[in-house]
Amino acid sequence: MASNQTFLLKPASYFAHESISPLFSGSVTILALIFIWSRFGSRKGAALPPGPPGYPVIGNLLSISEIAKFPWLKFTEWSRQYGPVIYLNFASQKVVILNTAQAAFDLLDQRGSNYTNRPRLIMAAEILAGGIHVGFVPHGPLWRKLRKAAHLGLNANAAEAYFPVQEKEAVILANNILDNPKEWDNHLQLSAASTILTITYGTPPLSSRTDPIILRINNFMEKMLKAAMPGNYLVDMIPALNRLPRWMAKFKREGKAAHEDFTDMFAEFLKGVKGEKFDASNKTFSATIISQQKQLEMTEKETAWLAGAMFGAGSDTTAAAMAVFVKAMVLYPDVMKKAQAEIDSVVGRDRLPTFADRKRMPYVNAVLKETLRWKPITPLGLARSAVEDDVYNGHFIPAGSIVMTNVWAMNHDEDIYPNPTEFKPERFLTDDGLDEMNPRFTRGGTHAYGFGRRICAGSNVASNTLFIDIASLLWAFNFSPGKGGLPSPDECIDTGVVVRPASFDCDISVRSNKVASILAMTREAQQA
Ligand code: HEM
Repeated sequence: MASNQTFLLKPASYFAHESISPLFSGSVTILALIFIWSRFGSRKGAALPPGPPGYPVIGNLLSISEIAKFPWLKFTEWSRQYGPVIYLNFASQKVVILNTAQAAFDLLDQRGSNYTNRPRLIMAAEILAGGIHVGFVPHGPLWRKLRKAAHLGLNANAAEAYFPVQEKEAVILANNILDNPKEWDNHLQLSAASTILTITYGTPPLSSRTDPIILRINNFMEKMLKAAMPGNYLVDMIPALNRLPRWMAKFKREGKAAHEDFTDMFAEFLKGVKGEKFDASNKTFSATIISQQKQLEMTEKETAWLAGAMFGAGSDTTAAAMAVFVKAMVLYPDVMKKAQAEIDSVVGRDRLPTFADRKRMPYVNAVLKETLRWKPITPLGLARSAVEDDVYNGHFIPAGSIVMTNVWAMNHDEDIYPNPTEFKPERFLTDDGLDEMNPRFTRGGTHAYGFGRRICAGSNVASNTLFIDIASLLWAFNFSPGKGGLPSPDECIDTGVVVRPASFDCDISVRSNKVASILAMTREAQQA
């Protein structure tokens, strides 16, 4: 029996690895009856949501090839045909896809208690992460405790404490691009990693992506991703295997050893923060949760893992969104010029932008929102699972269904975002061009961070990093197509959780010959 876990990452690939045998020879009539019963014999007589037709028992398993690549596009197409909420059934696994913001809001926000759970990931979440990774833990007291602690260090006010780190990292990023513009994408990735680590642990800025701390965390992330990927561990397909004693189950022994290594690593990072110099007023994420550890009744291990989870959640996501921004600037030079004009009028050409300028930069803020809308880097969000049976708009949503949000479809809803394929920040501005509009059912004007109680815990930190990076890079540079010509707007790479633009050539040049000296001066002043 297929278990539901792998939809947390990428639905299509779960079954792409499976060989599909023609099951429906034998007693076709009985199977057909089971199928009919399963579609209509549901609570209060409500039928399952519509969706592409499947076969008895195997359901939509044969449609796997259609959704193996960029499933959000196929789901969007199906939603045009079947409606905003669609239903798929892969062997025994029920999947409900929400394709409008209204549906996501109605269920994940308004009926939060039923939709705050995550699907089960035995190898990744339970064995490797020991059941204490904030992003994977089931809805319940432990998740509430971790989420409360995360909120203390990441809420909008707390996030302001990280402005100096983010401003400093933006200048380092601009300097790195100045020195070696061809490597712009690597610089974006280094900058995102360095920013989140400094915010979390107070470590000094990183100078290389092969810094030992990055290599160690990347090893953790690779193992987690591999474990969560479909077909890699049988236990996720046959959960009963998890009941085997450890001596009989290699995956359990290896998993436990890896979990202990990860715990030691996160404990060591935290020890660096807690060391002799520990000062509770030190504004790092770790210092904040350490100082509240007793009140929150957090164990050492939970505290270490909560801090450790920040890198995975906040590094590749932010870097991918910045790569989308660069692509947009190359493809839409008029938008770039307009944003630069706003920055110049607010900041001038003698210093770099700071967070103090943000309120006077509605257009740059709109560029940020449009970046997250245009090419969402988590186009299917992170999966949830329905705890109990539910009925929505006359459709039955069975308990245990994996519930996915098609953020791509929401962001390309023509009724809300006319000409959705265009990168057009103006759509977020009111007619007077000043106030930013927040379309309905968005938080801070975007669906990118998810919905309801499990919405991205780091959205403030993420948006702040994106703002200062975007403003600083536009202050310093012009972006134009490289030797390869204009990049394709749609070409992207699905890394499992995060979807980022496929690599493309881009020419980056300074906007004036004063840029280099001002960047150097600013960097010096920050180091003093
Ligand atoms: C552009 C950057 C980012 C994007 C687009 C993004 C997006 C998301 C999404 C879609 C989710 C799942 C929400 C849901 O289930 O509805 C999520 C969860 C989460 N994010 Fe982010 N994120 C970003 C950056 C960050 C950063 C910088 C941090 C940390 C400082 C962070 C911390 C988290 C955590 C801890 C969760 C798990 C929440 C939970 O399960 O309770 N994220 N993020």
